Amino acid sequence: MARKIVVTSGKGGVGKTTLCANLGIALARMSKRVMLLDLDIGLNNLDVALHIESKVVYDFVDVVEGKCRPMQALIQDETEPTLYTMPTCHLAKRQVTVDATKKVISRISDMFDYILIDCPAGIDGGFRRASACADEAIVVTTPHLPCVRDAQKTITQLDDKIATYVVINRMRGDLVLSGEMLSAFEIFSLLGKIPLGILPENDDVNCNLSLYTKRPAFAMLAKNLDTGSADMFDCEQTYRGFWGKIRRKLKRNV
Ligand SMILES: Nc1ncnc2c1ncn2[C@@H]1O[C@H](COP(=O)(O)OP(=O)(O)OP(=O)(O)O)[C@@H](O)[C@H]1O
Ligand SMILES: [Mg+2]
Repeated sequence: MARKIVVTSGKGGVGKTTLCANLGIALARMSKRVMLLDLDIGLNNLDVALHIESKVVYDFVDVVEGKCRPMQALIQDETEPTLYTMPTCHLAKRQVTVDATKKVISRISDMFDYILIDCPAGIDGGFRRASACADEAIVVTTPHLPCVRDAQKTITQLDDKIATYVVINRMRGDLVLSGEMLSAFEIFSLLGKIPLGILPENDDVNCNLSLYTKRPAFAMLAKNLDTGSADMFDCEQTYRGFWGKIRRKLKRNV
């Protein structure tokens, strides 16, 4: 039976889809059987993040509507054979209910170790549908106060029975050291849930997924999720000491 984990945030554009894609790859590299399920019906882009748009024939809504079997809507990753994605569509003709979504998930749950559910932003219908199908949640936030506040509100909307983890995305070590950005410790304390990982701000996040995921932050995140360890990526390391100070100055002058 798969661990069903919803990736949510409250605020939009904080990196849920990016996290789903990269965490999926990192878990698959640990030989885990992973399915990524796009439940962001309407603004779906998990297929885009994974560069598999051209391979989409059937999607999640087709499975719900009985047009195909779940297996027919799964797309196997080219480089990670244990990673599968079930995309979704721009427009669902009818409302997709929680029960229908749960039914689809239960039909394939035994085939995987992890089902990562990409959730829409906000805390309305789409969020409720995605979170009702999961037994764990990853709440993604950036180190900006409005985003942390939205993450707080999202946490209050999650069922108490759901194990909830926090990931801080787009962390800038140089700004934390200069006191211009909230530190990871402050954010984890404010949110009061299980710290799962810290991901640095990184401009190549979209350039080459397989190259990007070789970076240690996602490997740490996957290991923490799988084993319960608590290793955190140190975004400040490159900005400490004499050379770090120079790097900080140079970054500021870009
Ligand atoms: N660590 C990062 N460093 C730099 N850019 C990032 C990082 N994480 C995400 N991004 C960029 O931020 C943008 C939004 O990311 P993404 O689509 O994953 O967010 P989202 O939370 O899924 O958005 P939505 O709420 O619209 O579904 C993308 O262009 C992505 O490349
Ligand atoms: Mg998204």
